[in-house]
Amino acid sequence: MFLHRVSRQLLTANTVFSVKTLRCLNIAFGRFETEIIDKWKQKFASENVSEIENSIKYILEHVIEQKETLTERKNDQKITLTKEQLNRFEQLCECRMARMPVQYIIGEWDFCDLELKMRPPVFICRPESEELVELILQQCDDKLTMRFLEVGCGSGAISLALLHSLPKAQCIAIDQSGYACNLTLENATNLELNGRIKILKHKLTNESEIPEVEGKLDLIVSNPPYVPTNDLKVLAPEISLYEDLRALDGGPDGLNIIRYILTFASKRLKLQGHLWLEVDPSHPPLIEEYLQENKSNLNLKFVAAYKDMFGKDRFVEIMKI
Ligand SMILES: C[S@@+](CC[C@H](N)C(=O)[O-])C[C@H]1O[C@@H](n2cnc3c(N)ncnc32)[C@H](O)[C@@H]1O
Repeated sequence: MFLHRVSRQLLTANTVFSVKTLRCLNIAFGRFETEIIDKWKQKFASENVSEIENSIKYILEHVIEQKETLTERKNDQKITLTKEQLNRFEQLCECRMARMPVQYIIGEWDFCDLELKMRPPVFICRPESEELVELILQQCDDKLTMRFLEVGCGSGAISLALLHSLPKAQCIAIDQSGYACNLTLENATNLELNGRIKILKHKLTNESEIPEVEGKLDLIVSNPPYVPTNDLKVLAPEISLYEDLRALDGGPDGLNIIRYILTFASKRLKLQGHLWLEVDPSHPPLIEEYLQENKSNLNLKFVAAYKDMFGKDRFVEIMKI
């Protein structure tokens, strides 16, 4: 697929399916339902809609309100939809035909075992970021108090997954998008984590200050916009039509926001505090070189780069020295 040539962050939101453990849609339906499902499979195929089986599976589970149960059914347990359910199924399949990502169609998605609301145009959390959370948690003591900042919280996925696993942690989550801040708050409230998160609508710039954030931080994390602007020309319709491109556009070399974060981290991380970034695979050596060149004013040490599940250098760990 053409998108494989560009950054992983450009992958269509629906390709997220392929890394989840899903089985095929092999449930028995009444003859009428089977005809309708077959009709939509053909329509999706004719429009090159990707992940056809999974799109139908998720939409069906949403319509019959039986999440995760379809694939566990035996073939002899027939499912019959009500007239309303069939109408709803067809409406939502029309949305998928219009290339709406299924996460927006069903309005929710799982991230690190947390169920999060998803709403356009807020960036849909990707499975690589679950790996970032795991890497960070491996180094955190869940019995200790700590205060961390997330730059660009989107739906709140990373911050909320960390708060969920670190019961003594407090978080400040910023995003330039009001839609993202509202969705983070809604997800935090649903998960009863809103008492430990402060959400600020703020755009980090080269001035690199966040006025409301006081004192030094134990940790900063970000999955920032890191796609070089030129690569945005080849986006799949799922992204270009529905997701906020400011969540992706990292400027000419993809490093604009990353440089702002490095400057901020150099001022506001505690000594030996950590900065974790999710980046384009071309970025780790560039970031290492940048830190080396600016060692005397940044005092940040490049600790390591880590690969994602696809073998790409995706995560960077940096320490304040
Ligand atoms: C790639 S998305 C990541 C969202 C979320 N952390 C996740 O992993 O699902 C980047 C987010 O950064 C936000 N953002 C972009 N530029 C920003 C800036 N200069 N300051 C603060 N947030 C920014 C976008 O609105 C978007 O929500």
